[in-house]
Amino acid sequence: MPTPILHKESLIPGKTSKMLLHAPHIAQKARPGHFIMLRTHAKGERIPLTIADADPEKGTVTIVYLVMGKSTASLEALGNGDEILDVCGPLGHPTHIEKKGAVVCVGGGTGIAAMHHIAKGHYHAGNRVIGVIGARSKDLLLFEKELSSFAHELLISTDDGSYGHKGLVTELLHDRLEKDSQIFEVVAVGPVPMMAAVADTTRPFGVRTTVSLNPVMVDGIGMCGACRVTVGGKTKFACVDGPEFDGHEVDFTELRRRLSAYREQEKLSSELYERARP
Ligand code: NAD
Ligand code: FES
Repeated sequence: MPTPILHKESLIPGKTSKMLLHAPHIAQKARPGHFIMLRTHAKGERIPLTIADADPEKGTVTIVYLVMGKSTASLEALGNGDEILDVCGPLGHPTHIEKKGAVVCVGGGTGIAAMHHIAKGHYHAGNRVIGVIGARSKDLLLFEKELSSFAHELLISTDDGSYGHKGLVTELLHDRLEKDSQIFEVVAVGPVPMMAAVADTTRPFGVRTTVSLNPVMVDGIGMCGACRVTVGGKTKFACVDGPEFDGHEVDFTELRRRLSAYREQEKLSSELYERARP
C-alpha cells in the first residue's frame, strides 16, 4: 500500500539515508530482525531492507539504505511527504531473543542500523549488550548515538584509525572473546566478508554466531528461489527460512558468488538510469 515518508535524512551524503515511514500495520508487528520489501514504482524491482527501528505507538518504521544501484537511487530520489508505492512486511523470522546473559552485537557499515534494532531487543530482554561497530572512517560511522542507548558497552573501530580502534571489527571481537568467557552469542549484520570473518573469529571459541543474510531477493515470500543460500549443506530461502542463520553453517563463498552474479547488469542499469535523469 502507498506509504508516506514522514522524514528523510541523509546520513552520509550521496551514500546512505534514513527514512521514517508511516506504516502502522508493519510497526505493530515488526520485531528485531524482520525486514520489509518496497517498490518505488510499478515496474521497479522490490528492495529488501532490514528494519532499523519500529514504533508501534506512533505507527512508524525506520529504514536505512545504501544507495548502490538503480532501485536504491530511485528511493533516494524521494523525499519528505512523498509516498513509496508499496511496502510489504514485516517479513522473515525475527531474531531469536531470550534472556541469557552477555551478547555481542557486531555491526559493519550500513549494517549498524539494522543491528541497532537487534541490540535494542536484547537490551529490553535483560541481556548485557556489548556493541562492536565499525566503518571505513569516522565520517562513515552510523548510529553510534542510537546504539549507545541500548548497549552496556560500545566498542568502535575504523579501518583508517580516524576514530576508535584502527582496524576491523573482528579484531575488537577477538580481543573481547579472549577476555570474556561469559558471552553466549554473537550476532553480526553487515557486509558478507565481515559476517564470514565474524564466523571465523568465533568458531575457535565455540560461541553461537548468528548472521543476517542479504542475498538477492525478488518476491521476498518464498516463491521465486532467488534468495537461496546453503546452510549446513541444505538449501534455504533467506526470505522465509531466515534472514538469520547460524554463521558457522553458512556457505559464504556461494553467497558472495551469487551476490555478484548480476554486477555487470546492475552497473549498466545504474548508468542508463543516471543518463535518463533530468
Ligand atoms: P564496509 O565495506 O564499509 O565495511 C564496514 C565494516 O565492516 C568495516 O569497517 C570493517 O570493520 C568490517 N569489515 C568489512 N569487511 C571485513 C572483513 N573482510 N573482515 C572483517 N571485518 C570486515 O561496509 P558498507 O560499505 O557500509 O557495506 C554494508 C554492507 O552491509 C552492504 O553490503 C549491505 O548489503 C550490507 N547490509 C546487510 C544488512 C543485512 O541485513 N544483512 C543490512 C544492512 C546492510
Ligand atoms: Fe523469492 Fe526468497 S526472495 S524465494
